Amino acid sequence: MLPRPPGPRPHFLIGNMPLASRDPLAVFTRWAGEFGDVFYYRAGWIQVYFLNHPDLIEFVLVRNHQNFRKDRVIRNSRWFFGDGLLTSEGEHWKRQRRLSQPAFHRDRIAFYASVMTNYTQRMLSLWQDGTVIDAHQEMMRLTLRIVVRALFGVEADKTEEISRSLNIMMRNSTGARLLLPPFFRQLPLPRMFELRRAVTKLNDTVYRIIDLRRRNEGDSGDLLSVLMEARDEDGSRMDDKQLRDEVMTFLLAGHETTALALSWAWHLLSQDSQVEHKLHQELDRVLGGRIPTVSDVSSLTYTEAVIKESMRLYPPAWSVARTVIKDFELGGYRIPAGANVVMSQWIMQRDPRFFSDPEKFDPDRWSNENIQKLPKFAYFPFGGGPRQCIGASFAMMEAVVLLATIAGRFRLSKVEGQPIVPVPSFTLRPKEGIYVELRKRPYGTTKCLHPIG
Ligand code: HEM
Repeated sequence: MLPRPPGPRPHFLIGNMPLASRDPLAVFTRWAGEFGDVFYYRAGWIQVYFLNHPDLIEFVLVRNHQNFRKDRVIRNSRWFFGDGLLTSEGEHWKRQRRLSQPAFHRDRIAFYASVMTNYTQRMLSLWQDGTVIDAHQEMMRLTLRIVVRALFGVEADKTEEISRSLNIMMRNSTGARLLLPPFFRQLPLPRMFELRRAVTKLNDTVYRIIDLRRRNEGDSGDLLSVLMEARDEDGSRMDDKQLRDEVMTFLLAGHETTALALSWAWHLLSQDSQVEHKLHQELDRVLGGRIPTVSDVSSLTYTEAVIKESMRLYPPAWSVARTVIKDFELGGYRIPAGANVVMSQWIMQRDPRFFSDPEKFDPDRWSNENIQKLPKFAYFPFGGGPRQCIGASFAMMEAVVLLATIAGRFRLSKVEGQPIVPVPSFTLRPKEGIYVELRKRPYGTTKCLHPIG
């Protein structure tokens, strides 16, 4: 009989409730330090096995992925995602992934670079030197506009309903709330009314757009038209419900995560003038004051490293979880069917075994030479294996293009006395936003602005 992994001492009734603690990330970090590569706890009736080694994560996400399905939080979110890529399983997921893949083809993504810079320039035209803004709110608005335009080919301003409903849904999609059994959503509580109304409104809007498009078929360049045109080997296409589920998934999975990658990058840059200076040097050298285009992306290597390093320290998806289908053995322990396995980017990506001086914001660690030495799953901001993020290239290009466009025009300086608290909800959100002071940046002034070596 194999032993159960070590873990924290449980309360006899409720076990351990790290997510309800004041600082869940500190709790997980402490437990990983104390108990090692695998630890166990019970949260109420849910058994959790936490895996803290790249090989164990690869085992679950890649080598033995058939033995796992999406965890309870993701399963509970089916009522608004439907059976989209994030939540579906088995043959249905395989078919949807096959049909959706062309929408994320490199050429298709490249097409959106100009949409991205246009919307960013519009935002920047409203920014004023010396004012204080919440960079997180600005990034959320910007990435929503971009994903709505990329998906539907319509202006977000004309679909104000979409952003209002999405905001309500996101306010309510905290990890703890999604763990509650589904009947809680039927309770006659004002919050639940608001949430159900938001989902209904969003559905109406999305179905209206699909219906309009059905009547004017043809490739209009946006992702929806690619999804509508896609045919499976037997000639079948997605019906309206499948289109709705995928569109809803892309809207939600696609905008908050990218906004977070940028928000955390602004936070880190505002704390580190040397990294900021190096970033400006690259932008001045490669762009010389121009707005970036898709062909600049491959030359913006330091900009990309800033994004990668920000996602290492503040991963927008701070954990990935699965439910075990059949009992199995891992690292000398037996893990039973029905248990949850959790793999956390926050823990792995700050592990000193794989990242020297792990708390340091150091984009230079992303040199080719260093990357080759890194075990594959020591860094996995987009997950891995067959369920890896389908939007990873879209998100990386968007983050690089937006960071370059904005940092070319403005410095976002820290506002003293504002505590920045990462909250591990569905995603890793800044509790009170990220307030920064805007400083207009004259082009090509790296040398005189920052006289650092
Ligand atoms: C920085 C931005 C992003 C991050 C950090 C991120 C992270 C992730 C992660 C970790 C997963 C895997 C979840 C799991 O295995 O349980 C995932 C899946 C997914 N993401 Fe992203 N994502 C980002 C951007 C996007 C964008 C822009 C889109 C679409 C426009 C998108 C759509 C999806 C979808 C549809 C899935 C499910 C894929 C499948 O299971 O086949 N994501 N994402």
